[in-house]
Amino acid sequence: MSPCPRTRRVLSVASECAPLIKTGGLADVVGALPAALEPLGWHTRVLLPGYPGVLAQLAEAGTTLRRVWATEDLFGGPATVRRGVYRTTGGTGGTELDLMVLDAPHLFDRPGGPYSVDGHDHHDNHVRFAALSWVGARLAVEGTADRWRPDLVHAHDWQAGLVPSYLKYADCDVPTVVTVHNIAFQGVFGPDQLDRLKLPTWDFHPESLEYHGLVSTLKAGMVHASRVTTVSPSYATELATPEFGFGLEGVAAMRLDRGEMTGILNGIDTAAWDPATDPAVTPFSASDLAGKDANRGALLAEFGLDPTGDRPGPLAVVVTRLTHQKGVDLLCDALPGFLDAGGTVAVLGSGDPGYEFALGELAARYPGAMGVWIGYDEALSHRMYAGGDLVLVPSRFEPCGLTQLYGQHYGALPVVAATGGLRDTVTDATPENLAAGTATGFSFGDVRLGAAIDAGGLGFALGRAADLYRDADAWGRLRRTAMTTPVDWGTSAARYADLFGELVG
Ligand code: ADP
Ligand code: GLC
Repeated sequence: MSPCPRTRRVLSVASECAPLIKTGGLADVVGALPAALEPLGWHTRVLLPGYPGVLAQLAEAGTTLRRVWATEDLFGGPATVRRGVYRTTGGTGGTELDLMVLDAPHLFDRPGGPYSVDGHDHHDNHVRFAALSWVGARLAVEGTADRWRPDLVHAHDWQAGLVPSYLKYADCDVPTVVTVHNIAFQGVFGPDQLDRLKLPTWDFHPESLEYHGLVSTLKAGMVHASRVTTVSPSYATELATPEFGFGLEGVAAMRLDRGEMTGILNGIDTAAWDPATDPAVTPFSASDLAGKDANRGALLAEFGLDPTGDRPGPLAVVVTRLTHQKGVDLLCDALPGFLDAGGTVAVLGSGDPGYEFALGELAARYPGAMGVWIGYDEALSHRMYAGGDLVLVPSRFEPCGLTQLYGQHYGALPVVAATGGLRDTVTDATPENLAAGTATGFSFGDVRLGAAIDAGGLGFALGRAADLYRDADAWGRLRRTAMTTPVDWGTSAARYADLFGELVG
């Protein structure tokens, strides 16, 4: 009889974790991976900053937090790590998150979001997240008071990018995986901060911490991690090019060439995101779409759209950070054609004030046909995917993207730019793909086919979608394929487990 394999331990270090604190897809991934890895023999504890909102939600949920580690001086103040098991509520009853919360009031007890207040970044973000990374490394070196020490550390994005470096300076050989969710954010600060952040000046050189005379925590992570992953196979190869590497293409190319960087596609948490059990929407499924119609009607009413019920085209939804990455300007240029042809549009987003203003102006030009909700609203996002016929994602670059996956799963067919994870997850409704029954949405701007990601391409894709929408049978088939194509974590969690297994041995 073979011995029963011991469950192995991952410490996941991140600045966000759904459903407790979220500004984007990073939180969804950090919150969903633990449950997907558990049946594969990997138990995860997530180390998360003790933002006031997180501590308040844990208290409200009655989560018992026990002190497992402490220091009197974490870059200027005392810090305690408390561990507790938080039970999340989702569509199918929820899951459990094993959390270690870094309670360091001088760094995290402040108003605003995780990184900013009133639109301004905290001046000491480099200190706050170097502290998170330093504590992550100490937990791997020392273990915790409840006798837990990780076999591997999984560090996410620039905020946790220094974990491998701190482990290296501590001569600790616990393996590390750094996942790049978005290379555009690099955690850059001046070398005058090295001492303060317990980083050695001897390692400040181009093969290590140095980045054009400054320090980049993401670069440090990409250099020092045992392995680097990113969130889709296409983005992994894109990262090694000047167009997408944002100055880190050299490091990406080096790790890629050595076979030390891979792209593992994100999935979605199908317990929290299941149209048949989602408490935020009228239930529906691929085989019973009556609820989908009810959600569509409710969404139109909520946005004050289509009051006469006679707009013939599809209802397109957009749920996004309003930034250059997301191609919001392309939307503003392409949407008038779609609206003039009878389409309807509902937008939920916040971000760049210029884009917020431009979208508001467009909506004012199309009363009853286009509505915009500026802000962040998790429950409304569920209602949007449930009510929409299309979800629009015209990103200039997209490491993976989750909104196209939520849309697909909720029967809002994605219209996407063919880049990064959008390319890897959406099969374009070409005549061939439609005939083969493999199409799941619409894509445009495939540079490999000589096209560009621009408003013309988006407008053409919207036109194709609107044409197909008029053919109820073809639309029904496409929507069924989209809704039944697996988008859960199954395959991808197994790839993480394989990678972790390779490193831990
Ligand atoms: P990114 O992480 O680059 O913003 P993703 O597509 O990976 O892009 O993830 C975005 C996540 O944030 C999705 O879960 C989406 O539903 C959510 N989201 C984005 N904007 C909003 C908003 N204004 N209100 C609610 N949820 C939002
Ligand atoms: C980043 C990326 C997005 C990805 C998410 C989760 O925010 O911009 O494409 O889906 O991380 O990995």
